[in-house]
Amino acid sequence: MAIQTTFLMVKPDGVKRQLVGDIVDRFERKGFELKGAKLMQVTEELAKKHYAEHAERPFFGELVEFITSGPVFAMVWEGENVISVARLMMGATNPAESAPGTIRGDYSTTLSHNVIHGSDSLAAAEREIGLFFNENELV
Ligand code: TYD
Ligand code: MG
Repeated sequence: MAIQTTFLMVKPDGVKRQLVGDIVDRFERKGFELKGAKLMQVTEELAKKHYAEHAERPFFGELVEFITSGPVFAMVWEGENVISVARLMMGATNPAESAPGTIRGDYSTTLSHNVIHGSDSLAAAEREIGLFFNENELV
Protein backbone atom coordinates (compact mmCIF):
# COMPACT_ATOMS: atom_id res chain seq x y z
CA MET A 1 0.00 0.00 0.00
CA ALA A 2 1.51 3.30 -1.10
CA ILE A 3 0.15 6.33 0.75
CA GLN A 4 1.13 9.34 -1.32
CA THR A 5 0.36 13.04 -1.50
CA THR A 6 -0.24 14.94 -4.72
CA PHE A 7 -0.79 18.47 -5.92
CA LEU A 8 -4.03 19.22 -7.80
CA MET A 9 -5.16 22.60 -9.09
CA VAL A 10 -8.44 23.74 -10.60
CA LYS A 11 -7.28 26.05 -13.40
CA PRO A 12 -8.77 29.51 -14.04
CA ASP A 13 -11.35 28.12 -16.49
CA GLY A 14 -12.62 25.65 -13.88
CA VAL A 15 -12.83 28.32 -11.16
CA LYS A 16 -14.70 30.70 -13.49
CA ARG A 17 -17.12 27.94 -14.42
CA GLN A 18 -17.75 27.18 -10.73
CA LEU A 19 -16.48 23.60 -10.95
CA VAL A 20 -14.46 23.70 -7.70
CA GLY A 21 -17.21 22.12 -5.61
CA ASP A 22 -17.79 19.28 -8.04
CA ILE A 23 -14.09 18.55 -8.35
CA VAL A 24 -13.49 18.51 -4.58
CA ASP A 25 -16.57 16.27 -4.25
CA ARG A 26 -15.18 13.72 -6.71
CA PHE A 27 -11.92 13.27 -4.79
CA GLU A 28 -13.69 13.19 -1.42
CA ARG A 29 -16.16 10.55 -2.61
CA LYS A 30 -13.29 8.50 -4.00
CA GLY A 31 -11.89 8.37 -0.47
CA PHE A 32 -8.90 10.69 -0.69
CA GLU A 33 -8.15 13.13 2.11
CA LEU A 34 -7.77 16.86 1.62
CA LYS A 35 -4.62 18.12 3.38
CA GLY A 36 -4.62 21.74 2.20
CA ALA A 37 -6.46 24.08 -0.18
CA LYS A 38 -6.57 27.72 -1.19
CA LEU A 39 -7.95 30.04 -3.83
CA MET A 40 -5.03 32.07 -5.15
CA GLN A 41 -3.69 34.15 -8.00
CA VAL A 42 -0.64 32.53 -9.66
CA THR A 43 2.12 35.03 -10.42
CA GLU A 44 4.06 34.90 -13.67
CA GLU A 45 7.14 33.82 -11.69
CA LEU A 46 5.33 30.90 -10.05
CA ALA A 47 3.71 29.88 -13.35
CA LYS A 48 7.10 29.70 -15.07
CA LYS A 49 8.56 27.60 -12.24
CA HIS A 50 5.55 25.30 -12.12
CA TYR A 51 5.61 24.65 -15.88
CA ALA A 52 9.44 24.81 -16.25
CA GLU A 53 9.49 21.41 -18.02
CA HIS A 54 7.56 23.01 -20.90
CA ALA A 55 9.71 26.17 -21.17
CA GLU A 56 10.93 25.33 -24.68
CA ARG A 57 7.54 24.26 -26.05
CA PRO A 58 5.71 26.54 -28.50
CA PHE A 59 2.65 26.74 -26.23
CA PHE A 60 4.62 27.88 -23.14
CA GLY A 61 3.74 31.58 -23.45
CA GLU A 62 0.03 30.90 -23.77
CA LEU A 63 0.17 28.37 -20.95
CA VAL A 64 1.71 30.91 -18.56
CA GLU A 65 -0.75 33.58 -19.71
CA PHE A 66 -3.70 31.24 -19.16
CA ILE A 67 -2.71 29.96 -15.73
CA THR A 68 -2.21 33.56 -14.51
CA SER A 69 -5.45 34.84 -16.12
CA GLY A 70 -7.58 34.42 -12.98
CA PRO A 71 -7.67 32.67 -9.62
CA VAL A 72 -6.86 28.96 -9.33
CA PHE A 73 -7.87 26.55 -6.57
CA ALA A 74 -4.72 24.80 -5.34
CA MET A 75 -5.02 21.59 -3.31
CA VAL A 76 -2.97 18.86 -1.67
CA TRP A 77 -4.59 15.43 -1.46
CA GLU A 78 -3.45 12.27 0.31
CA GLY A 79 -4.30 8.63 -0.23
CA GLU A 80 -3.40 5.27 -1.64
CA ASN A 81 -1.71 5.70 -5.03
CA VAL A 82 -3.29 9.16 -5.21
CA ILE A 83 -0.79 10.44 -7.80
CA SER A 84 -1.74 8.03 -10.58
CA VAL A 85 -5.38 7.60 -9.52
CA ALA A 86 -5.98 11.37 -9.56
CA ARG A 87 -4.50 11.46 -13.08
CA LEU A 88 -6.96 8.72 -14.10
CA MET A 89 -9.86 10.68 -12.60
CA MET A 90 -8.70 13.83 -14.46
CA GLY A 91 -8.62 12.06 -17.83
CA ALA A 92 -6.24 12.49 -20.75
CA THR A 93 -4.52 15.86 -21.25
CA ASN A 94 -6.36 16.45 -24.52
CA PRO A 95 -10.13 16.60 -23.83
CA ALA A 96 -10.69 15.15 -27.31
CA GLU A 97 -9.22 11.92 -25.90
CA SER A 98 -10.34 11.98 -22.25
CA ALA A 99 -13.07 9.47 -21.41
CA PRO A 100 -16.57 10.52 -20.35
CA GLY A 101 -16.74 10.25 -16.56
CA THR A 102 -13.36 11.88 -16.12
CA ILE A 103 -13.08 15.55 -15.16
CA ARG A 104 -11.59 16.65 -18.48
CA GLY A 105 -13.86 14.24 -20.36
CA ASP A 106 -16.94 15.70 -18.72
CA TYR A 107 -16.08 19.40 -18.66
CA SER A 108 -13.69 20.40 -21.40
CA THR A 109 -13.33 20.45 -25.17
CA THR A 110 -10.06 22.37 -25.51
CA LEU A 111 -6.48 21.21 -24.83
CA SER A 112 -5.30 24.57 -23.53
CA HIS A 113 -8.35 24.98 -21.23
CA ASN A 114 -8.57 21.57 -19.63
CA VAL A 115 -9.87 22.54 -16.16
CA ILE A 116 -7.42 20.75 -13.87
CA HIS A 117 -3.74 20.12 -13.21
CA GLY A 118 -2.35 17.11 -11.36
CA SER A 119 1.22 16.05 -10.55
CA ASP A 120 2.42 13.23 -12.80
CA SER A 121 5.06 11.59 -10.53
CA LEU A 122 6.32 11.43 -6.95
CA ALA A 123 9.09 13.91 -7.76
CA ALA A 124 6.66 16.32 -9.45
CA ALA A 125 4.22 16.08 -6.54
CA GLU A 126 6.93 16.92 -4.01
CA ARG A 127 8.21 19.80 -6.13
CA GLU A 128 4.78 21.28 -6.87
CA ILE A 129 3.51 21.02 -3.27
CA GLY A 130 6.66 22.88 -2.22
CA LEU A 131 6.09 25.58 -4.85
CA PHE A 132 2.46 26.26 -3.89
CA PHE A 133 2.22 25.56 -0.15
CA ASN A 134 4.06 26.38 3.05
CA GLU A 135 4.26 23.54 5.54
CA ASN A 136 2.01 25.42 7.99
CA GLU A 137 -0.78 25.50 5.38
CA LEU A 138 -1.03 21.69 5.37
CA VAL A 139 -2.71 19.63 8.07
P1 TYD B 1 1.21 18.42 -19.95
O1 TYD B 1 2.10 18.45 -18.73
O2 TYD B 1 1.70 17.71 -21.14
O3 TYD B 1 -0.23 17.82 -19.58
P2 TYD B 1 -0.92 17.51 -18.16
O4 TYD B 1 -1.58 18.80 -17.72
O5 TYD B 1 -1.93 16.45 -18.47
O6 TYD B 1 0.15 17.06 -17.22
O7 TYD B 1 0.89 19.92 -20.40
C1 TYD B 1 0.60 20.92 -19.44
C2 TYD B 1 -0.57 21.73 -19.95
O8 TYD B 1 -0.18 22.46 -21.09
C3 TYD B 1 -1.77 20.90 -20.39
O9 TYD B 1 -2.62 20.57 -19.32
C4 TYD B 1 -2.43 21.80 -21.39
C5 TYD B 1 -1.28 22.62 -21.97
N1 TYD B 1 -0.89 22.15 -23.32
C6 TYD B 1 -1.18 22.95 -24.43
O10 TYD B 1 -1.77 24.02 -24.29
N2 TYD B 1 -0.80 22.51 -25.67
C7 TYD B 1 -0.15 21.33 -25.85
O11 TYD B 1 0.17 20.98 -27.02
C8 TYD B 1 0.14 20.51 -24.71
C9 TYD B 1 0.86 19.19 -24.84
C10 TYD B 1 -0.25 20.97 -23.45
MG1 MG C 1 2.04 17.73 -16.82
